[in-house]
Amino acid sequence: MNMLHSLPTTEYQQRRQQLMEQLPDNSVVMVFAAAVSVRNGDVEHAYRQDSYFYYLTGFVEPESVLLLRRLDNQIDSLLLCREKNPLQETWHGRRLGVEAAPEALQLNAAKPISELESVLDSWLDGADYVYSAQVREDVSLHLQASISRLRRRVRQGSQVPAFYGDIDSVLDEMRLIKSEAEVALMERAADISARAHQRLMETTQPGVMEYQLAAHFSHACSMEGSRRLAYGSIVAGGANACILHYEDNNQALQDGDLVLIDAGCELDYYASDITRTFPVNGRFSEPQKAIYNLVLEALETAIAEVKEGVPVNTLQMAAVKVITTGLVEFGILQGDVEQLIADEAYKPFYLHNIGHWLGMDVHDVGKYKLQGDWRALQAGMVTTIEPGIYIPMDTPDIDPQWLGIGVRIEDDILVTKTGHKNLTRQVPVTVAEIESLMQQSAQQAHN
Ligand code: GLY
Ligand code: MN
Ligand code: MN
Repeated sequence: MNMLHSLPTTEYQQRRQQLMEQLPDNSVVMVFAAAVSVRNGDVEHAYRQDSYFYYLTGFVEPESVLLLRRLDNQIDSLLLCREKNPLQETWHGRRLGVEAAPEALQLNAAKPISELESVLDSWLDGADYVYSAQVREDVSLHLQASISRLRRRVRQGSQVPAFYGDIDSVLDEMRLIKSEAEVALMERAADISARAHQRLMETTQPGVMEYQLAAHFSHACSMEGSRRLAYGSIVAGGANACILHYEDNNQALQDGDLVLIDAGCELDYYASDITRTFPVNGRFSEPQKAIYNLVLEALETAIAEVKEGVPVNTLQMAAVKVITTGLVEFGILQGDVEQLIADEAYKPFYLHNIGHWLGMDVHDVGKYKLQGDWRALQAGMVTTIEPGIYIPMDTPDIDPQWLGIGVRIEDDILVTKTGHKNLTRQVPVTVAEIESLMQQSAQQAHN
């Protein structure tokens, strides 16, 4: 395995090739590394490379820029990066350096980032099209400055590019369809998160703080090789589960409540995203079980729809139908199911969508509609499926037995040639699976 990244270096090279082949001749693409973000004083937030930059390079260092050019149907590549510097490296860590970069990353050349201005000018001079990924403010400033310098030199023969655009939509389509190697990584990420979720089910007890479970999850993922989480963990006891992006995680779990845990690790820049909801004391109450089983039915019904060619909104429609029907059976909604669906009467209880693309980012890139129509699922896409029902304490006109129940269940689903594969089914999900696991572990702890 390569120390820089776990995908083969050729995969990054193929992506660059595939990108440039979609652009007109005499195009230049520039992709900037993520900016460093200061936390306070001389302390920085943990650095994570920009997903587009990493997708095309496999290179994690800040202060780097990738330049790609297609000219006469030849593809040229250049990395601007930090130079080796023993003193800086002693203080802040190792650098790949300009000399080692081309071979390590399979790029044509590398130059010091200190030469950014002059290199940018020489690459843009004479290009017809200039593209950038993620046109951030700092990227626009570099681009505009270079264009201005070229404009001032037109009488000396400089040629200013006629077209500037962003390349995100092309890269997004590439990122949306995962290669075999990407799928293998995502399966490993999903496995690690699945085991960590299971550990939490085995160890949760009344009185534990929500943030302690979050720490436990993070530790369990680290111990299996994940360097960071894909997003801030949500650990929501009781009615906190009705706050969709609850990240305070500052309360003690109560006997008799459910706990909703939405957490996933990142593995070599690929995300997993799992939610499980289970009883703090190991046993569902009857109302909790009723709501839980309804969400589970919505999950399973939506997952069963996943196959190539199915428009992506079918999954939400399937879940909405199950949830609305169940809410009517419970007397939480009254009326005709079809009419209630048309009126979106389920929205106070299920207000989000069924899921999102999953990949390098947890809410991954890729369009959901093409030319105004919901796009069809395709092999190699990964989507989450995550229905929920949330009944906040202040819900009016409702039987009090339902108040404060919030349930979401979330799996990661790969679309395959023959249907789908649930990458996260291994985490206990039925009431029987959850209760038996929790009771077994309580028994073992007792013995
Ligand atoms: N973890 C964020 C989400 O499920 O969308
Ligand atoms: Mn999700
Ligand atoms: Mn989630």
